[in-house]
Amino acid sequence: MKIINYLKEILKKRFNRENFLAYIKIFGCQQNEADAEKICGFLKFLGFNFTDDILVADLILFETCAVRHTAEEKILAHIGNLKNIKKANNNIFIAICGCMVEQENIRNYIQEKFGFIDLICGAKIIENFPELFYEKLTGKKLNNFCNIHVSQVLQKNKFKAWVPIISGCNNFCSYCIVPYVRGPEKSKDYNQILDYCKKIIKNGSKIITLLGQNVNSYFYNNFNFSDLLKEIDNINGEFAIRFMTSHPKDFNKNLVDTLASLKHFSNHLHLPVQSGNNKILKFMNRKYTREEYIEKINYAREKIKNLVITSDIIVGFPGETNLEFEDTVSLIKKIQFASIFNFIYSPRVGTAAFNMQDNISHDEKVRRISKIIKIQEKISQEFLSGFVGTNLKVVIEENFANKSIARSKSNLIIELEEKFNVGDIISVKIISSKRNSLIGKKI
Ligand code: 5AD
Ligand code: SF4
Repeated sequence: MKIINYLKEILKKRFNRENFLAYIKIFGCQQNEADAEKICGFLKFLGFNFTDDILVADLILFETCAVRHTAEEKILAHIGNLKNIKKANNNIFIAICGCMVEQENIRNYIQEKFGFIDLICGAKIIENFPELFYEKLTGKKLNNFCNIHVSQVLQKNKFKAWVPIISGCNNFCSYCIVPYVRGPEKSKDYNQILDYCKKIIKNGSKIITLLGQNVNSYFYNNFNFSDLLKEIDNINGEFAIRFMTSHPKDFNKNLVDTLASLKHFSNHLHLPVQSGNNKILKFMNRKYTREEYIEKINYAREKIKNLVITSDIIVGFPGETNLEFEDTVSLIKKIQFASIFNFIYSPRVGTAAFNMQDNISHDEKVRRISKIIKIQEKISQEFLSGFVGTNLKVVIEENFANKSIARSKSNLIIELEEKFNVGDIISVKIISSKRNSLIGKKI
């Protein structure tokens, strides 16, 4: 506690006040949300509160993403905009964390171009944020025996919990930077995960999302992902289990059978297919075929009723011909996903695909993604209209003006014309459907 108090004194002097404000901006995936919640827990412990107004913040922290170049460009522009804020008040502390700054070339670029940044902390060393923060602020090295990890995760939504179960990735899909910026797979302690789940469920978490780049690879002391799911399912309480992301190559019948046996499974499966063409899947190093993917989906749909399946698609992978792209179109039509995330292929330095010949024009890539978006829009609308007249159990997520936004167990968004308490679970009747959401009324 001595070092925490010392750190608080330093902060009081630096910011010239008793209570501090932090502005946190998160780019990218749920893993980043989870990492940010850990950092926020630490900051809260030090006496920070959180603000959406960057202009009143003492500390500004960006949790960055490196998956696509467009994300990086956007983040760099945001970082550039911080220059004037720092100029106006040099005491403001600016930290840039996450995957983007795990890349050495970007780190060097930021240090050179934006010398006003106080702390850079890449995704692989995010666990060390407290030490780095301490060292930067005090100018002193932290003694090995001092434990600064005394804070708890600060959930943004009390009823919605991210639970990282495995970090890193060993798959090396040829387009993907993640294995480089997050490192090799490492499963977290089985009992610690279970204890954490018990605690958050007791404290009111209603949606438990198990996180990892490939959750199916979870393996700790002979316990695999199915073991973990069954054990969490046995915890007493009203909650739904979600997980992301599953890799289709490891998504097998055993896992489907386990999911079918769970009381708390959310019935939502995010299974990124990326492409519907076998040649492209091979070049992507995905290690499954179109046919295998379809077979897995068919088995899952047969065993688990009302399964909501979503996916990720990349268009314009190097060398993808129009005919090969059309295989992706036909797969989307065949599977009828509830929704998909679409991406134009983005070359990432250091990945295998970076050296493959990318001869598709930007206009053509835009044409392909637009085509998919249009087709999927129709499929999603039809999928949603199928819920009209049915009843769903939902958890209230947010309130706007006179409305509440809720989420079903299977991750569908439901708008309600009345206001309820955030975190409440209620039953609703679906009265109509929109493009991306449903309209419901409390029963
Ligand atoms: N270009 C475009 N999309 C990518 N993704 C990952 N890497 C790239 C890239 N280089 C997409 C994949 C993945 C999702 C998280 O991001 O579809 O499933
Ligand atoms: Fe990237 Fe593939 Fe690993 Fe997913 S499984 S993080 S797409 S390398």
